[in-house]
Amino acid sequence: MQIDMAATPFGARYNIMNSTVTPRPIAWTVTLDEEGKPNAAPHSFFNALGSDPAMIVLGLMKIKGQDKDTAAYIRARPDFVIALVAEHDAEAMNKTATDSPRGVDELAMFGIGTAPASVVAPPLIASAPVNFECRVRDLLDYPGQTVVIAEILVAHIKDEFILNAERMHLDTPAMQLIARTHGAGWYERGTDLFQMTRPSYADLTGDQK
Ligand SMILES: Cc1cc2nc3c(=O)[nH]c(=O)nc-3n(C[C@H](O)[C@H](O)[C@H](O)COP(=O)(O)O)c2cc1C
Repeated sequence: MQIDMAATPFGARYNIMNSTVTPRPIAWTVTLDEEGKPNAAPHSFFNALGSDPAMIVLGLMKIKGQDKDTAAYIRARPDFVIALVAEHDAEAMNKTATDSPRGVDELAMFGIGTAPASVVAPPLIASAPVNFECRVRDLLDYPGQTVVIAEILVAHIKDEFILNAERMHLDTPAMQLIARTHGAGWYERGTDLFQMTRPSYADLTGDQK
């Protein structure tokens, strides 16, 4: 079946994206409202864009053309925190996805511990294996979504996951990060791994370039 995406109704188009681009890492995004109160929400339209500089992207869907809280707060104050979600934080993360009214501090409400960030104002999530302090580099405004491209200014990685601090070899499996997959409410653990070394051109052809 060939699908004209732009001509497909919103719900079906969302399902195609949600069910094909998997697994998606989850950004647990912490912003501050106008009064300086924290706001937290998970986002799986999220990924790394490159490492020079260290860039990430977030796809923040609008509701009837209006930004949800995260996008509105990032527009007003372009600094935010992304925590990566370990399995032990799954339920807490899921609670922060509820449609709580603007101004509710989901971190306080659900007893999610925080720690101060070093260069941005929103707090880190204390239990997360990894927190990134981020600053917006580009904000793309579409009728149905706001796309935020941001630089990671500071990365916080819990010491227990650092295998080699000089080369920054990390014990990613030990972080037990979860990811979103197809359908409503399905998640993946990153436990079914295999390894493949990348061959050189010469390995494959016997030729030297
Ligand atoms: C695992 C997960 C991933 C989500 N990913 C996104 C996403 O990528 N973009 C989005 O706009 N909403 C996403 N949501 C829904 C938002 O988290 C939800 O609408 C939340 O209430 C938004 O909060 P805010 O108004 O504080 O921004 C996701 C929810 C869950 C549970």
